[in-house]
Amino acid sequence: MPLTESIPEVLAAVPRERWPRHVAIIMDGNGRWAQRQDLPRIEGHRRGVASVRRTTEECARLGIEQLTLYCLSSENWKRPQPEIDFLMHLLEQYMIEERTTIMENNLRVRMIGRREGIPGQVLRELDKTVEMSSTNSGTRLNLAINYGGRSEIVDAMRSIGREIVAGELQPAEVTEATIAEHLYTAGLDDPDLLVRTAGELRISNFLLWQISYAEIWVTERCWPEFDEATLHAAIVDYARRNRKFGGLNG
Ligand code: IPE
Ligand code: IPE
Ligand code: MG
Repeated sequence: MPLTESIPEVLAAVPRERWPRHVAIIMDGNGRWAQRQDLPRIEGHRRGVASVRRTTEECARLGIEQLTLYCLSSENWKRPQPEIDFLMHLLEQYMIEERTTIMENNLRVRMIGRREGIPGQVLRELDKTVEMSSTNSGTRLNLAINYGGRSEIVDAMRSIGREIVAGELQPAEVTEATIAEHLYTAGLDDPDLLVRTAGELRISNFLLWQISYAEIWVTERCWPEFDEATLHAAIVDYARRNRKFGGLNG
């Protein structure tokens, strides 16, 4: 269906240039959603995958340039082993089962996070999906897996340090751009809109450097309940904001 015919009314009222180009989402509340339905926590994660599909497809349809999803934090390894095992299983399955949807939607997938610690079979399937989608030209889907904002900065500092020791870079030449180029997100624009589901008012170590001027939108809805209408509501609210970047006008 051509976008102009199917664009929801709430969004049609917002000029396109006021839409966010990059949306980042902290997909939280899977466990709480499941517990409220008397289901095991893992059932919430399973249902969360359906929300990922809905959201990626809608972003692709709307022509959102980038979608960054917080799938697993560097702190989530503290959870009980059976939950971790299930999350790894889901990630592997997602990479295999969603490949067709990813290709049909022209999504270009990239992983951001530390590879060490992620099981080999998950990385293998992830790499296949990344490789297969590498020439797609639609929405960029950045999956934050084993991601921590602080460890990302540590890794960037180590790599900048190595360049300085090798004499390739002078300390005085280090700028904000140098740091940005050494982060996992090198080459990607910063998020415009940061969405968090399930109501917590915190960042939980997500994209610490990149969200310095992102607009934050929090919903009480848990991630398994996130749907197209919730995404539209976030976009409409974002479009009303006056981003000043420290200046006086938007
Ligand atoms: C988010 O849901 C998914 C991951 C962190 C992997 P949670 O599992 O954190 O759900 P709650 O916050 O406990 O409800
Ligand atoms: C953030 O959610 C991580 C992901 C959504 C992957 P958490 O559930 O881990 O965050 P906290 O522990 O409530 O801060
Ligand atoms: Mg949580």
